[in-house]
Amino acid sequence: QLDPLPPITPEFLTILNKVCEQCYTDFAPDELELGVREHILRDLETFVRRQFAGAQLQLFGSSKNGFGFRQSDLDICMVLEGQETIDDVNCISIIESLARLLKKHPGLKNILPITTAKVPIVKFYHVRTSLEGDISLYNTLALHNTHLLASYAAIDWRVKVLCYVMKVFAKMCDIGDASRGSLSSYAYTLMVLFFLQQRNPPVIPVLQEIYDGKKKPEVLVDGWNVYYFDDLKSLPSRWPHYGRNTETVGELWLGLLRFYTEDFDFREHVVCIRQQARLTTFNKQWTSKYIVIEDPFDLNHNLGAGLSRKMTNFIMKAFINGRRVFGTPVRAFPAVYPSQMEFF
Ligand code: CTP
Ligand code: MG
Repeated sequence: QLDPLPPITPEFLTILNKVCEQCYTDFAPDELELGVREHILRDLETFVRRQFAGAQLQLFGSSKNGFGFRQSDLDICMVLEGQETIDDVNCISIIESLARLLKKHPGLKNILPITTAKVPIVKFYHVRTSLEGDISLYNTLALHNTHLLASYAAIDWRVKVLCYVMKVFAKMCDIGDASRGSLSSYAYTLMVLFFLQQRNPPVIPVLQEIYDGKKKPEVLVDGWNVYYFDDLKSLPSRWPHYGRNTETVGELWLGLLRFYTEDFDFREHVVCIRQQARLTTFNKQWTSKYIVIEDPFDLNHNLGAGLSRKMTNFIMKAFINGRRVFGTPVRAFPAVYPSQMEFF
C-alpha cells in the first residue's frame, strides 16, 4: 500500500545531507550552555541540602547523553548519601517535602510534585534560563542508560546527527511527547540506535554483547544487568565491522524511514538494542501492542506500552509521510530551516 519512491538523485542526497547536518548545528547546545546546566544543578544541590543534608544531585537524560537541545528539560536524579535505595512510601513523602522546599527557592517557579507516576518527580521552571526540569529519586537505571546512549553517540558522529534529526522530526510531527500519549525522546533514540545496529554493514555495534571470555559480565542494578562494553578506544580491534559503513547521514535518514515503513515488521519484532539477533513480540508476550520498544536494561519495560491504537496509527502515518517527503527529490533547499520553525 506504500507508494513506490522515485529514484534518488545525487543532487537531492546532497540536500538531504545538508538538512540533516543543519538539525544538529542548529540545535546542539554549546559548552557554555552545558556549563549553565551544571551551574543550575550545583545551585539546586546547595539549596536542597538545607533540608536534606546528604543530598546528591546528578544530571541525566539529554543534558548528558549527547542528544540535548538548547531547550531540553533538566532531568535530575537525587540520592541521599549513605542510603542505597528507597521504598515507594518514603519516595512519595520525600518528593512532597522536596516540593515544599523548592517553593522557597527564589529562582524557581511552577513547582509541581507528581506522585502518581511510575517514577515520582517534582517539576520546576527555572526562571532565568526558562528551562523546565524535574527531580526524581534513585532513578539509577536512567543514569546507566544515559551513559549507554552517550557511549553510542561517541562511537560515530552520524549517530548524534541522526538522533537530532529524529527528535526534530518527532517534534515537527507532534509525535514526541510521552506525557501526551505519544513516545518519549528516549524511545525514538532507541529506534535510531536499533536501526543503526541492523543496517548492513552496521554503523554501531551492540555494546551489551561485547565482552571478554564466554560469559557476559554481570553488573546488577535494581535487579537488572547494566553491563556494556565502554572501552571505546579499543572498539576498532573488538568489533569486526568498525568503520565499514560509509553511508552519509542523508542516506541513513532516508534509510531509517524506509526501514520502519518497509522492512521492519512491528507485529512480529521488538525494537531491541541489547542483542543483534531479532527478538519477537511473542518471546516477550508483548503481542497486544503494535509498537514494542524494549528498554536495554529494564527488560520488563516496553516504551510503547502507553500508546493507544489511535496514537500508534498517528505515529506510523508520520513515518509513512516522512518516507515520502524525504524520499522524493526536490531541487532546492527548503526555505524554512528547522531552527526557524515555531515549536521552540
Ligand atoms: N527515561 C527512562 N525511561 C523512560 C523515559 C525516560 O529511563 N520511559 C530516562 C532516560 O535515561 C532518558 C531520560 O529519562 O534519557 C530523560 O527522558 P526524556 O526527557 O524523555 O529524554 P531526553 O533524552 O532527555 O530528551 P529531551 O531532550 O526531549 O528531554
Ligand atoms: Mg529530557
